[in-house]
Amino acid sequence: MKALVLSGGKGTRLRPLTYSGAKQLVPLANKPVLFYVLEDIVAAGITDIGLVVGDTADQIQEAVGSGERFGARVTYIRQDSPAGLAHAVKIAREYLGPDRFVMYLGDNFIEAGIREYVQDFAASTACASILLHDVPNPQQFGVAELREGRVVHLEEKPAQPRSRLALVGIYLFDPTIHTAVESIRPSGRGELEITDAISWLVDRGHDVQARVVEGWWIDTGKMEDMLDANRLVLERLGPANEGSVSDDSVLQGTVIIRAGATVTHSRLRGPLIIGENATIEESYIGPFSAIGSGCTIRGSEIEHSIIMENTVIEHVPHRIEDSLIGRDVEIRRGGVQPRTYRLMLGDHSRLEVL
Ligand code: G1P
Repeated sequence: MKALVLSGGKGTRLRPLTYSGAKQLVPLANKPVLFYVLEDIVAAGITDIGLVVGDTADQIQEAVGSGERFGARVTYIRQDSPAGLAHAVKIAREYLGPDRFVMYLGDNFIEAGIREYVQDFAASTACASILLHDVPNPQQFGVAELREGRVVHLEEKPAQPRSRLALVGIYLFDPTIHTAVESIRPSGRGELEITDAISWLVDRGHDVQARVVEGWWIDTGKMEDMLDANRLVLERLGPANEGSVSDDSVLQGTVIIRAGATVTHSRLRGPLIIGENATIEESYIGPFSAIGSGCTIRGSEIEHSIIMENTVIEHVPHRIEDSLIGRDVEIRRGGVQPRTYRLMLGDHSRLEVL
């Protein structure tokens, strides 16, 4: 089997971070979402991975390289416009050849991993298998209706969902999907929807199986999802201290400190991770925080947040919580009078002040 990983898309719901970076490279516990996806695929025994890339191709290619690091062979497939998930399958047809494959959205992943689903699909004669998850807001996803365990209806972002079962961004296909993809027309949002292609299979009586995924599923398209996902990933890591911690600092719970990081006169309450060469001084870092490599946190309090590489946070008088902060950002208490907010924020930034 092969894998097709989708890493195009504009990531508009994660602006402004996605003006400068691919959404699939936003880190969870200091590791890009996409890396969890690639690791999951390799753990399921698949090493031929086609990576569909768009505008952010250079960054993705720089981060992933040949795939060797993951034990995989990665082939890059260029998608010139984000014309839909089924369009991605269309342009990957030559790469996929006659093989069965798993299609995995580069900003999704599931707690238990895909291994079991891949094995079951490889051993079956079904022409597709979809993964579903019970969600409170099915309107925002593709939605499946099942009858006696069989898929009877699929719809992309329905106003009146027929169930709470959302399509997870992980799909298993045999080559029949290529015929389906050629047969459908663009949707209202102008995209070739994979949901429509699977519907086409269902309507023509092909064997489309469905599995309801237990455990968590994360779709990291929005800021709130990123923070949730960061929390879930941090919860399953074990402690590690490769850095240096002063005697007057206090570590509680699962704390990971990477090489070259220094912690002085601070309280760290895990689960949390401090990246390589970060400096934490006279600060409190609370649960579910990921502080990127090279960051400096001085005289400040941070909790339940993702702070990306080389950001500096100094002497901020109130705790920073539930925040997603990009690379090379500077947040400082201003030293001069009058006491005002002085801001330089990119387009689509969001700030809640006291
Ligand atoms: C896409 C699919 C949708 C699926 C979702 C999962 O939505 O079209 O059916 O439920 O991924 O993440 P999009 O992210 O393009 O809105």
